[in-house]
Formats: sequence, structure tokens, C-alpha cells
Amino acid sequence: MIIVKIGGSVFSDKSGRERNFRHGVVERIAEELVEFYPQEDFLIVHGGGSFGHPEAKKHGIKDGLPDEPRAARSRRIGFTLTHKAMLEANGSFIDAFISKNLPAFPVSTSSIFLTEEGEIVYGDLEVLRWLLRERFIPVLFGDVSIDIARGIDILSGDQIITYLAKMLEPEKVIFLMDVDGIYDGRPGRGKLVQNLERDEIGPLLGRLNCTTAGTDVTGGICNKLREAAKMARFSEVWFVNGLVPGRLSGAIRGDGFGTRIVP
Ligand code: IPE
Repeated sequence: MIIVKIGGSVFSDKSGRERNFRHGVVERIAEELVEFYPQEDFLIVHGGGSFGHPEAKKHGIKDGLPDEPRAARSRRIGFTLTHKAMLEANGSFIDAFISKNLPAFPVSTSSIFLTEEGEIVYGDLEVLRWLLRERFIPVLFGDVSIDIARGIDILSGDQIITYLAKMLEPEKVIFLMDVDGIYDGRPGRGKLVQNLERDEIGPLLGRLNCTTAGTDVTGGICNKLREAAKMARFSEVWFVNGLVPGRLSGAIRGDGFGTRIVP
């Protein structure tokens, strides 16, 4: 089984208007998957992009639930609205996959995971396992979460993937991004790292100044690398450009262009 994360900056323009969706890009991604399904099983996780991030910021979801009853009530409604924005993005993914004859099935992340201080502490994977067994392509997404310490929080697609990689042991995890892979320096300026060993991730995080927070509510490339370090214990991890046709297929075959992380 292969897990594919479709980053928010691949399926939408994060600096564009709210809730824009790149239908053409997602249909082309589906076409690349069609070449390999059903010989290969897939599980898809997509990010928040222009859907979840603006909504999560607007409603202060990462601040948890306040004590004051009126403020808490309006934060709960913001929680639902953020989830609803994600359902809308997810619906467009399902439509695109179905239009290419791929049996995609939506799974709401917030219905099967609980977090504590932002970390997954519970995940009910039984239905997911059965969906895979019955040859469906489950489509999960970065979402809001019920958090047992703070009331509510955001759960990023990358965190979900780390958890799923540990529990389901896929042969490969592929991250689709809007750049060619991981750079030793600024994307486009620094050098693209094509092969990275797991124990080289720590020093790279230092060189990338990963102590400062990114602009996303879930932290950008630094978080991705940290999560990748955990995953590379179980699976081969790829970072490729999801906007360039053929890069996903290359990563699935194993001879593609991008960053490959080996244990
Ligand atoms: C964020 O998910 C989910 C919400 C903001 C609700 P991700 O962190 O995985 O999204 P992208 O890929 O960075 O957009």
C-alpha cells in the first residue's frame, strides 16, 4: 500500500481567494494513480489549502476552547465551519477521483482521531483497514480534532500520515508539494536534496532554521521533515512536485525525480 499526501499548495492556490480548487491538477493526479490501481493499493490524505487554513485562523481553532461560555460557543461553531470547509475540499477530491473511475471513499479525520495537546492519542482504524481490504481508496484530510486537553485543535495531514505509517506500514509514503522536493536552503535557491538518509534530517533541520514557526497553522516544511524522520523508520518516503505531470508516477515506480528518504 502507498500513502499519498496531496499538499494544500498543490490542489489550491494558498495565496489566492478562499476555497479555490485546482480541478485540472487533481484530475491529472487521479490519472497518474489510475496507471497503478488496482495492482497497487492507495490511501490518500489531502491538506487544508485555501479551505481549512483561512477558516482555522479566523476562528482561532488552535487556541482550544475558552472558559467563557459565549466565546466557547462561538469557537465551537467555528470548529464546525472549519470542518465544513474541509468537507467541501474533500467532496471535490472524491468527484475528481470518481470521474477517473477510481473508487475513492471519504473518511472524516475528526471522526476517527482524538488529540492531546495536538498529538494523536487515539485512532480508530478498523473501518479504514476494511476499506483497504475491500480495495477502496480512502481519502482523509487535515482537519479539526477534539483534543482531550484543550477541547479542540487542528490535526495536520502530515501528522495523520505519520500515525498511519506506523500503524499500517505502507511500502511507501509520497508527499506532493509545489516545489521539487527538499532543499538544503531556500526552495529554488539552495540545492535540491535527491537522496537523504534518516540520520541526516536532524542537521538539515538545523541548517533550515527550523526553530522559528512557519506561516501555516500547521508549520510548513519543517514539520514535514520532522514527521518524515519518524516515518522513514517504517517506509520509504518521497517528496515530489505534484504540479509537474509524471513526478507522482515516478515516485510510485521508484525512479522519479524529487527527494527520497531512506532509513
Ligand atoms: C490543515 O492540514 C488542516 C486545517 C487547517 C483544517 P495540513 O496542514 O495538512 O494542510 P496543508 O497541506 O498544509 O494545506
